[in-house]
Amino acid sequence: MSGAMDHLIALPDMPQSRLQEVERHLYVLREDELHPLVSGNKYRKLLPNIAAMRAARKQGILTFGGAFSNHIFSTAAAGMLEKVPTLGFIRGEESSADNPTLGKAAAMGMKLQFLDRTTYRMRYDSEWLAQLQSQYPDYYLVPEGGGNEAGVLGCESIADQLISLDDFDIYLAAGTGSTAAGIIRGLHKNKTKASIYVVAALKGGDFLRDEMDQYLPDADMRSSYELLTDYHFGGYAKWKPELITFMNDWYKKTQIPLEPIYTAKAAYAMMQLRKPHRKSVLIHTGGLQGLAGFRERFGELLRPKV
Ligand SMILES: Cc1ncc(COP(=O)(O)O)c(C=O)c1O
Repeated sequence: MSGAMDHLIALPDMPQSRLQEVERHLYVLREDELHPLVSGNKYRKLLPNIAAMRAARKQGILTFGGAFSNHIFSTAAAGMLEKVPTLGFIRGEESSADNPTLGKAAAMGMKLQFLDRTTYRMRYDSEWLAQLQSQYPDYYLVPEGGGNEAGVLGCESIADQLISLDDFDIYLAAGTGSTAAGIIRGLHKNKTKASIYVVAALKGGDFLRDEMDQYLPDADMRSSYELLTDYHFGGYAKWKPELITFMNDWYKKTQIPLEPIYTAKAAYAMMQLRKPHRKSVLIHTGGLQGLAGFRERFGELLRPKV
């Protein structure tokens, strides 16, 4: 699959986010506020991928995701803003085409193509991808979740937002691990001292170590993080009432909305594990667009209505 390292790309200027202190020694890096549509880590992953697309002289972005995917939503939005055609290969049935995520993605101009679950599993198979590329020669292929070298490179800039702190703990959620890998590289570049807790959003998240380590060239980067695999609440896109209660209590206390797939799991882990005498930072990676689909499926369990 194409990656930024195939082509020399000029990394676009990255925006700054707000480091919000919610109580003594407890901070939230508001990456969710970076852009109203291209939220959180997606902004940092997609800008370099669009730059890589242009460097490769392709005309559009082709990518993959589930029916409620933040990455699909954000790619559609980034494509609309940057005037880049987007094509989304979606896991599952066409019947989900008008859910809040895919309905808006289509309205923002993304063309959707539905793949049955067996075909969707081929999305990392190099032969299958080569065939897809020959079918869509003008499109730049970006993997699910924006998890490639360009995406990791973009996420290095998250660490620049944390330079004012020193010797602290970071908590963030992982799906592909590429956001975490970028932050680790960025901290290393900036010589910022921090312990990183990577909270697997899916069940059986041990594979994330290999996923992350492929982007971490130094042994000290590879040993600088702890992977937490016990905060998945049943697995990817699963939740338990305890998580919803936590989210509502957290919102009442901080006025900061979370979503149940990623950020609530990382916040929950942080509140369980944090050491009161040390600074802890939650990286709020966004994903709040997913709340509309969550409400549609599970009703009004969540505060606030965003
Ligand atoms: C809101 C949100 N947080 C965290 C993640 C995990 O990021 P990564 O795939 O880089 O581990 C994702 C998506 O994958 C996401 O949408």
